[in-house]
Amino acid sequence: MMRPKVVVTRRWPREVEDRLAAEFDVQFNASDRPYHQNELRAALTEADAVLPTVTDRIGEDLFGSGIRARILANFGVGFNHIDLAAAGKAGVVVTNTPGVLTDATADLAMTLLLMCARRAGEGEREVRSGNWTGWRPTHLCGTQVTGKTIGIIGMGRIGQAMARRCHGGFGMDVIFYDSHTVDNLDVPASQLPTVEDVLEAADFVSLHCPGGGENYHLINETRLRRMKWSSFLINTARGDVVDEQALVQALDTKRLAGAGLDVFEHEPAISRRLSERDDVVLLPHLGSATRETRIAMGMRVIDNLKAFFDGHRPPDALN
Ligand code: DGY
Repeated sequence: MMRPKVVVTRRWPREVEDRLAAEFDVQFNASDRPYHQNELRAALTEADAVLPTVTDRIGEDLFGSGIRARILANFGVGFNHIDLAAAGKAGVVVTNTPGVLTDATADLAMTLLLMCARRAGEGEREVRSGNWTGWRPTHLCGTQVTGKTIGIIGMGRIGQAMARRCHGGFGMDVIFYDSHTVDNLDVPASQLPTVEDVLEAADFVSLHCPGGGENYHLINETRLRRMKWSSFLINTARGDVVDEQALVQALDTKRLAGAGLDVFEHEPAISRRLSERDDVVLLPHLGSATRETRIAMGMRVIDNLKAFFDGHRPPDALN
């Protein structure tokens, strides 16, 4: 029997690539270089399934006539890089990998929060540069985390995992905004009516909403002005949720104490106005980057593919 032809756009963990190779007729990307648009278009016209990641922009223009692919099984939970409506119109099912990266991403948001509060990036740079002159009472004093208020924007799985860490680990009060009513939480938390309510009351604001669409520049100049001057913004969601220029201005004018960013508006390009600052912690989109999580993400993609090619609706179908 002919095995479905599958194109994988980036290198994946070996365990997952081995399983893919055992079950499908696979074209891997040995160089791990991101595909150009024409290569993505070729993949869609030549394969039964394409397995993209966040680095592949799959817009309406790629779904012209002659598409062979029937499923786009994305490696990742976020899917704002794929035009779902256009995929649906072209008869292409899109899937993602929810659930398996919740803890890893919340761990990284907590890492950024702690690094910002305790000036860990600055400290590490000082030690490595040989500029550390020794202990002193006024040296690199940060902000206490324990007992402060965390404001969460987007109380889905990852937002809730962040709330558990902040409340259970650091005795923080949890307030949040979500466009839907969220109940049955396993941590005490107050849902506030607007994003602004959360921004005004929180000492740390952590973003856990999807990117794109109505969340594009959700955190803009006006909203940044609502944050406490002593507060920190943490973003492990998507770069376009924050207006980066407005963020730099808020930091320049000391309207905000700092920011911890794992995602960027034009990644992997980082504005020098951010990278030259000491009051930001910058990580290279590492939210889900543990070996365990990346393997689980890959296996979840395979579960979706197998269900699809066995004639079922994939468990994580988005359209
Ligand atoms: C996700 O899963 O959305 C990560 O950000 C990688 O795409």
